[in-house]
Amino acid sequence: MFQRKRNGKKCPTNHCDDNDCGNNNDVNNSSISSLILRYFLLILIVGVIVYQAFNNYHVITYVSHSVKSFFRGDFDNIIGIVNNDDDDDQNYVLGETQILRHMVIRTRLGRLRGFVQNVNGVEVQTFLSVPFGQPPIDKLRFRRTRPIRKWTGIKDATEFPSPCIQSEYTQRLFPVHIINQNVSEDCLYLNIWSPIGSRNKSVMVLIHGGLFTIGSISVDEYDGRMLAAHGDVVVVTIQYRLGIFGFLDLDSDRIPGNMGLFDQAMALKWIHDNIRYFGGNPNSITLFGTSAGSISIGFHMFASPAQRLFQRAILQSGSPMLLKDAFTRGEIVAEKFAEIIGCYEKGNETIYDDPEPIIDCIDQTPFEQIYKAQDEIVRDNPVPFMPTIPSEYIQNLIGDYNESTKIWQKQVLMGFNLNEGALMLHLSYPKIYTRHDVPKHRHLQQVRQSVVTMGVDSGLKESTSTAMANLLIRGDDHDQEENNNPIVWARKVADLFSDVMFVCPTYQFIDKLLSLNTTTYLYLFAQRSKNSKWGEWMQVTHHDEINFIMGHPLRYPLFYNDDDRNVSSVMIKTWTHFARTGEMPETYFNEKWQPTTMEQKKFMQLKAGNMRMGNNFHNESCDLYNLLADYLN
Ligand SMILES: *[C@@H]1O[C@H](CO)[C@@H](O)[C@H](O)[C@H]1NC(C)=O
Ligand SMILES: *[C@@H]1O[C@H](CO)[C@@H](O)[C@H](O)[C@H]1NC(C)=O
Ligand SMILES: *[C@@H]1O[C@H](CO)[C@@H](O)[C@H](O)[C@H]1NC(C)=O
Ligand SMILES: *[C@@H]1O[C@H](CO)[C@@H](O)[C@H](O)[C@H]1NC(C)=O
Ligand SMILES: *[C@@H]1O[C@H](CO)[C@@H](O)[C@H](O)[C@H]1NC(C)=O
Ligand SMILES: *[C@@H]1O[C@H](CO)[C@@H](O)[C@H](O)[C@H]1NC(C)=O
Ligand SMILES: *[C@@H]1O[C@H](CO)[C@@H](O)[C@H](O)[C@H]1NC(C)=O
Repeated sequence: MFQRKRNGKKCPTNHCDDNDCGNNNDVNNSSISSLILRYFLLILIVGVIVYQAFNNYHVITYVSHSVKSFFRGDFDNIIGIVNNDDDDDQNYVLGETQILRHMVIRTRLGRLRGFVQNVNGVEVQTFLSVPFGQPPIDKLRFRRTRPIRKWTGIKDATEFPSPCIQSEYTQRLFPVHIINQNVSEDCLYLNIWSPIGSRNKSVMVLIHGGLFTIGSISVDEYDGRMLAAHGDVVVVTIQYRLGIFGFLDLDSDRIPGNMGLFDQAMALKWIHDNIRYFGGNPNSITLFGTSAGSISIGFHMFASPAQRLFQRAILQSGSPMLLKDAFTRGEIVAEKFAEIIGCYEKGNETIYDDPEPIIDCIDQTPFEQIYKAQDEIVRDNPVPFMPTIPSEYIQNLIGDYNESTKIWQKQVLMGFNLNEGALMLHLSYPKIYTRHDVPKHRHLQQVRQSVVTMGVDSGLKESTSTAMANLLIRGDDHDQEENNNPIVWARKVADLFSDVMFVCPTYQFIDKLLSLNTTTYLYLFAQRSKNSKWGEWMQVTHHDEINFIMGHPLRYPLFYNDDDRNVSSVMIKTWTHFARTGEMPETYFNEKWQPTTMEQKKFMQLKAGNMRMGNNFHNESCDLYNLLADYLN
């Protein structure tokens, strides 16, 4: 069917073999290359942090005090422990839903009972936990998604669905716990919000992030009510299988890999077939997503049964053109999994030579054992389950699709945040790159030397390591004052991560889109929120934009300032205008938002009072990326 590369090359992300991986206190302990590879995976997981926080937040309906500590920035309080003594005199309730009345609608498959709520004066009809696939349990575990069957009677659609079952170990590593005890394998649901009386309105579908391993739509962060009300669109959020359940790959018809992407494609098919019952236009569908969600969207554009089921795409902080090692590990992980559960013994043959008997064995394995095996696997490698290439779902690396490839999206909006890497740095080295204080690291010259040493230690030539160090330092090291300023230094290190994981992969994807004549708009999100829970040095980091698009500054005005509310409003208007027309609005900005070109990566800066075009943000970022790509080849 398709040819899979069978190199047994050890994954460089496995260099680090102790459990404290990612929490070392000294940058010197890791080689820079494994560090970078490890953290471009890690970066996606940031969704979990927010997930965690907002998971509590969602449970506000049940435990209101925990949320307040979150908004005050007592982030540690919210990790794992809900501090019940932490009540105070704030006299409003967050995340509250004002249900006006219930309503029943008929779809092609059966009737659903949802509700109408008031959102800042707009009535929004809301349907939660709408099933789009048969529960992937028992005989359907690890299989491609099956469509949901017709039902009789009225299905209740008034409660958020269970999050998909996900690795607790991965959550703890970062270090968070999902407190929602209701995670389940039965999780193929979507949520829909539409302004009442909608007819043939444009539809925006959110694919959540979280490293393909964690995350859920049952969190306040992804509540679509404000985007629907303020942007006048139909908003849909979808869930998909995660971790081993979504991305185990046996290279077989029975376990084809990328089941999580098949789930997403099934959701898109459901939306295409049914959204008109909710007032949506099936011929005006825009996907948007952040991090792993954004990467998924990139794959759907190039390779998906759902390729033709959406007209536009918005990719926020995530490109499917990461360093290719990210997507090629199906075989090694599958072998390890099958060994752990006793279905396979490593010999001369690889698991893909004859997977069928092994799959028979996997099918006999009880859920608990599979779940435990996943936790064991993630101890060596925090993010082992990613989309795999080449596979049935994705035959080629995106870079290998050539100009005869057909894609159906004529317009794309793509972008990143000012300092994406800062969050990675903090999560990786929390004692040096502390969340609140000034980073506690050494002077720039010492750092330059240690980068060279790290590179040489990990097998790079000295000249390569020096080149890397020079890229990191970026030539402005003559300014003594800057050299000794720990914030300047921290930003430079953060840039290293940003460039390799976000900026360059975004530029490469844009070039690919432009070669296929897809008009592409680029943004740089640079609005530092009043409500930011991160230290000043972290500026505007990974995942900071999503709350603005989902309209939190408008929903919770007391926690934000005028600038935040303005930027949120502008972003909602822009995103939804793009969803309707494929163009950028003329208003709101200090100058016209021009599409980007291969030669000039023109972007709109999204920042209060300074909505201007810029050019070639970090335009040297691909030098470093290419250096690493060469090294890995
Ligand atoms: C978990 O499920 C139980 C039973 O279905 C339900 O009563 C409870 O509210 C759910 N909890 C959350 C946090 O969704
Ligand atoms: C919905 O709008 C599209 C244009 O995007 C139009 O072609 C179509 O006929 C409309 N459908 C209905 C049911 O009004
Ligand atoms: C494995 O391969 C080696 C060398 O090709 C061969 O000598 C040996 O018999 C093989 N073992 C099995 C179990 O096939
Ligand atoms: C483009 O890719 C297709 C499919 O892989 C291949 O058949 C074709 O020869 C390629 N065209 C060029 C110009 O490389
Ligand atoms: C893109 O547009 C140019 C100019 O109109 C045309 O020559 C080229 O064939 C188009 N490429 C694709 C992949 O459609
Ligand atoms: C945002 O602020 C600018 C300048 O202060 C103003 O012109 C614009 O109307 C505001 N936009 C929104 C949507 O509030
Ligand atoms: C980067 O962009 C700046 C500003 O547009 C430009 O002056 C410079 O030549 C560019 N550098 C490279 C390497 O493209």
